[in-house]
Formats: sequence, structure tokens, C-alpha cells
Amino acid sequence: MAKGDEQAQIGLIVLGATGTIGRLTLDIARRYPDRIRVIGLAGGADADKLAELTAQWQPEAVAIARADRRDGFLAKLDGAWNGVCMDGPGAATQLAAWPGGTVVVNGIVGAAGLLPTLATLKAGRRLALANKESLVLAGELVCNLLEQHQSAEILPVDSEHSAIAQCLAGRTEASIKRIILTASGGPFRTLTSDQLAHVTPQDALKHPTWNMGRRITIDSATMFNKGLELIEARWLFNVPFAKLKVWVHPQSQVHGLVETVEGSLIAQLSTPDMRLPIQLAITHPESWGEAVPPCDLAALGRLDFEEADEVRFPCFTLARLAGERGGVAPTVANAADEVLVASFLRGEIAYGAIAEGLAAAIDQHCPVERPDLDDIFAADAWAREVTGVFISLSGTGSSGGKR
Ligand SMILES: NC(=O)c1ccc[n+]([C@@H]2O[C@H](COP(=O)([O-])OP(=O)(O)OC[C@H]3O[C@@H](n4cnc5c(N)ncnc54)[C@H](OP(=O)(O)O)[C@@H]3O)[C@@H](O)[C@H]2O)c1
Repeated sequence: MAKGDEQAQIGLIVLGATGTIGRLTLDIARRYPDRIRVIGLAGGADADKLAELTAQWQPEAVAIARADRRDGFLAKLDGAWNGVCMDGPGAATQLAAWPGGTVVVNGIVGAAGLLPTLATLKAGRRLALANKESLVLAGELVCNLLEQHQSAEILPVDSEHSAIAQCLAGRTEASIKRIILTASGGPFRTLTSDQLAHVTPQDALKHPTWNMGRRITIDSATMFNKGLELIEARWLFNVPFAKLKVWVHPQSQVHGLVETVEGSLIAQLSTPDMRLPIQLAITHPESWGEAVPPCDLAALGRLDFEEADEVRFPCFTLARLAGERGGVAPTVANAADEVLVASFLRGEIAYGAIAEGLAAAIDQHCPVERPDLDDIFAADAWAREVTGVFISLSGTGSSGGKR
């Protein structure tokens, strides 16, 4: 591509621009100013950060989910930008279909990422997907949309799924025996069940290898995140749960592996830095240059692997079981977890109450086979409500109750 060739430039829309994935995506855009044009930015509540990014990137359009922060956002810019500002819960969804967008990075956290994912695919665009919740809530609907819109595609941003996609390249479905996702094990990998009962949000926020948003960091500590990733892999790679496995690998250099029927084990290794999977998702199938320094195995000396401990990490098991049960069970698990993690971070409930609240919501939910969007949103709202009640009662005798 010739320098400054506008036609060949990627029109990038970054949803969740004010978050960790958003920041790293903009790092990639900064490295390739001739090849990437940032045309849209979406944030949630952080108006100051969004205004800073808007002044810097001068996108055509901006979406801010919290309508009450719009005035503050514009005031902070003080005339330094004259694009279109959309606000409210549907703003990121509108932005995903903004004209001229060719790649949409969805780095929104939680169920709020689902509608923007659907809008991106309906617009026939490439979706660089970090928001795993889209597939957790609506894997089947997302896959149906992909089939209906030929030019739409999903490139995974989650490092494990990016690794697996790299290992799978060119392989037939029949040749795959197992897909293995790795997990760092988080900050509590070596703690006993007794020690786990006393961990604080500050302990849980100290992830040993990755620097991420608060929810995914807590979900990594409980390993709920790894259960969500199994569900994500089930839909991305169209494999049954029986073919999916997790290995704990504390060094976080191997991100995913594929075992073939012949007995070959193919692994992807790289320095743990999300800029690699983000760059691959944006540029595939082209290679634009180094995204991260390669990992130095000789300097590292050793790589360790162990089975995931489902007794000490019940949230992992609960997420996996919700995925296997299907229907709205993953939606219920995700919504309950969002509410429980926020409550744990506010210091309202103990660590153990996250698993208890999750189990309660999943046990009580009303199954719906092959849910449509209305079923999914109803299940999401129900789970948030029932979990709110669980939290308000959890100080009254539950073992994992209020601090
Ligand atoms: N961080 C990682 O390394 C990593 C790796 C793999 C996958 N992921 C996945 O990527 C997603 C984002 O993770 P993260 O770590 O980047 O989270 P984060 O740092 O907490 O950022 C979340 C982003 O979502 C925005 N947001 C929150 N609620 C929203 C809403 N209702 N509508 C629109 N935007 C909203 C936030 O905006 P404000 O801050 O302005 O409120 C922020 O920009 C998650 O699904 C996570 O599982 C992350």
C-alpha cells in the first residue's frame, strides 16, 4: 500500500476506548498512522478520558453510554473537536455501524457489549472481539448472523482464542482431537481453601502476569473468566465442550494448544501482552511487523503446566457447567457474576460469596432452550435482580457472607 493511500486505510472503530483493551488498541493505531484511521470512539462513564482521546484522535463520531456525562464530555473538549456525539445505552451500537468503519474492536466489558457485536456483524464488518460476553450470552445468534452476512467476520482478541486460531490455521475439523486453553491461575493459584476464605479485593486485583480491567481481573482470580473462555471457544471454533480443556500455566507464555488426532500438540507462545492478539485481529491475514518482543524461552528456563483445580475454584466449574447446560444458563451466570464482582469490589461481600451467589442464580433460573434476544435480556435482568437479593441477605448466615 502506498503511503497515505486513503482507500486502503482501515477505518477503525474502538468500543470501550477508555478501557484497557481500548488503550492497547489505540497503541497499535498510533504505530500505523498511515494504515489505520480512527473514525469512532466509544466509552462508558469516563467522560474526561473519552474527551482526552477525542481531542487526540479527532474521530468522526463518539459514543458515550452515560447520557448524563455528555455535557461534561463536551465541556472538557471546549470546542477542540467538531464531530458527532451520540449518547445513551444504544450509542455504541449506533457507532458500530458508522459509515466508513471497516474494523470494529469491541472492548466493552460485560453484557453491554452484546448489541454492538450484533450491529457490527449486521453491518458486514470485521469484529475484533474482546467482549467474550457477546458469545457467552448469544453464541448461537452471533453464529447465525455470521452466516447471514457474508462479509462479516470475527477475529478473536482474547489471547487464548487468538492462540488457538493461529494453531488451527489450515487444519480440518476432523483432525482436531482437543483444544487446550491455558490459564495463569491468577494470584490465588497456590492458596488453600482456608486461605481463600480471607482474601480481599486488593489481593484479587494483583494479577501476576496481566494488567486488565477490574472485572476480568477478579474473574481471573476466581477462574470464572476461564469458564467464560470455554464457552467463547465452543462458539468460535464450533467444538463441543468435551473437546475443550484448560491447563494452568503460571508463566503465561503458552496461550493455547491444539492436539491433533495423530498425537501432535501445537502451541502458540508469546510474551503476555494483548497488543499481539489485537494487532493480529486488526491486520489478519497481513503481517505488519513486530507487535511485542518475542519470548525468550532460554532466559525463562522452564514452563510449568498443571490441571485446573475445580474444588478450590468453584466459579470455573459453575461457568463451565452453565455453558454445557446452554440456553440462558450462561447469561444468568454472567449477569450474576457481574453483580457479585461489583459487590465484592465495593467490599460488601466476601470472596466465597461470589461462588455461592453464582450457584444460587444458576440453580434457580428457569431454562429456555434456543433463546432469542428477548429471552436473553429477560434472563439477564432476572439474574441481576435475584443476585441483588442474594447480596442483601448474604450477611445473615451464609458462610461466604458480608465482611
Ligand atoms: N484487559 C484484557 O487484557 C482483556 C483480555 C481479554 C479479553 N478481555 C475482555 O475485553 C473486555 C474489556 O476488558 P477490559 O479489561 O478492557 O475492561 P475495562 O478496562 O474495565 O474497560 C471496559 C470498557 O467498557 C466500557 N463500558 C463499561 N460499561 C459500558 C456500557 N454500559 N456501555 C458502553 N461501554 C461501557 C468502559 O467505559 P468507561 O471506563 O468509560 O466507563 C471501558 O471503556 C471484557 O469483556 C474482557 O473480558 C480483556
